[in-house]
Amino acid sequence: MTCKAYRAAILHSIADPAEVGIEASYEYFADGLLVVDNGQIKAVGPASELLGTLAADVAVTEYKDALITPGFIDTHIHFPQTGMIGAYGEQLLDWLNTYTFPCENQFADKAHADEVADVFLKELLRNGTTTALVFGSVHPQSVDALFEAAQHLDLRLIAGKVMMDRNAPDYLTDTAETGYSESKALIERWHGKGRLHYAVTPRFAPTSTPEQLTLAGKLLGEYPDVYLHTHISENLQEIEWVKSLFPERKGYLDVYDHYQLLGERSVFAHGVHLCDEECARLAETGSAVAFCPTSNLFLGSGLFNLPMAEKHKLNVGLGTDVGAGTSFSLLNTLNEAYKVMQLQGARLDPFKSLYLATLGGARALRLEDKIGNLQPGSDADFLVLDYNATPLMSYRLKQSKNIAETLFVLMTLGDDRTVQQTYAAGNLVHQR
Ligand code: GUN
Ligand code: ZN
Repeated sequence: MTCKAYRAAILHSIADPAEVGIEASYEYFADGLLVVDNGQIKAVGPASELLGTLAADVAVTEYKDALITPGFIDTHIHFPQTGMIGAYGEQLLDWLNTYTFPCENQFADKAHADEVADVFLKELLRNGTTTALVFGSVHPQSVDALFEAAQHLDLRLIAGKVMMDRNAPDYLTDTAETGYSESKALIERWHGKGRLHYAVTPRFAPTSTPEQLTLAGKLLGEYPDVYLHTHISENLQEIEWVKSLFPERKGYLDVYDHYQLLGERSVFAHGVHLCDEECARLAETGSAVAFCPTSNLFLGSGLFNLPMAEKHKLNVGLGTDVGAGTSFSLLNTLNEAYKVMQLQGARLDPFKSLYLATLGGARALRLEDKIGNLQPGSDADFLVLDYNATPLMSYRLKQSKNIAETLFVLMTLGDDRTVQQTYAAGNLVHQR
């Protein structure tokens, strides 16, 4: 692939605002240049400095009235739930039984999984998401379908088959043994292939027997660089159920801790009702939490306490949690995240939001050397966001005084329409 350059306003996070303050957390070039070579970022900086360093044959694409950012990172989403977003009326446990399990059953059919994988990845890219941590269904072929489609597009993607051997319909359960052996076969087949990674994916504590959780821990021991992806403390009834199923454990997190599922590549979705002690333990083990505001509001689960997570220096990424979440857009998700903070009397600074959707997600996934920012050497996964995406956005941004205000308006009014181009590994993978 030849060297190419892109000229526009450029913004990326370089640190967590909670650690370094707002001003030191980002780099902004009002007239910037992003130089891409062989799928990686070669340079980023002011156009005035970099243009003169380019070889004469390097094509420069200029985007007017637009902002280049890193691709967004969705740290929690369910691929088989694409077709059931916006399912009416229930909270978590009834929602699972009424809508989710019947929908996921369709993924026993590989042809159906192939079809949805295509829709799902297109939707991610339309919304500017270049990396996601993804739940499959219990069927290994659902994960094959997704990885095959992602490989075709050369995306960086993490996924796993659900392990679930109790408290779900018979048509949708594996066993402790098959959950282990099928996951192992998928790891051997896909983990580390191109930009693909595997996540061991027990659905949540209530749907796995102690035997299955033990074997999930065994897989992590056997493959230290695979991920662990599950749910935790999303809903109050769910938490009571976990206590009744595992009465010998101190609480929900202690169940996962007991089966050795915490660690630097472990991502727990939601954590709405975690206590101080649990946040401390997650942080101590290097585990991460996926904050999923549209889902938490849609299912009436509760309000994630981001300041508490920050106090414990816990790694937090942003998740859409589609299909309980109501949008594939991380811009839209940040709009709801802001409101979740407002309801708790807290502020979500736009640069913290940018961090959550990019570098924070990359850190949660331990991929910050590859994605989440535009430092030289990173994968060339980036977006062109259009300031004129809608008439209202165009009009509103004309009043904007600085990049902080522009960024906040992009997050408040923005969605898939805002994403003009998506690039993955230097390839144009979505053009609005
Ligand atoms: N907990 C267990 N399974 C699920 C799921 O599919 N979605 C959500 N939001 N929570 C869960
Ligand atoms: Zn989920």
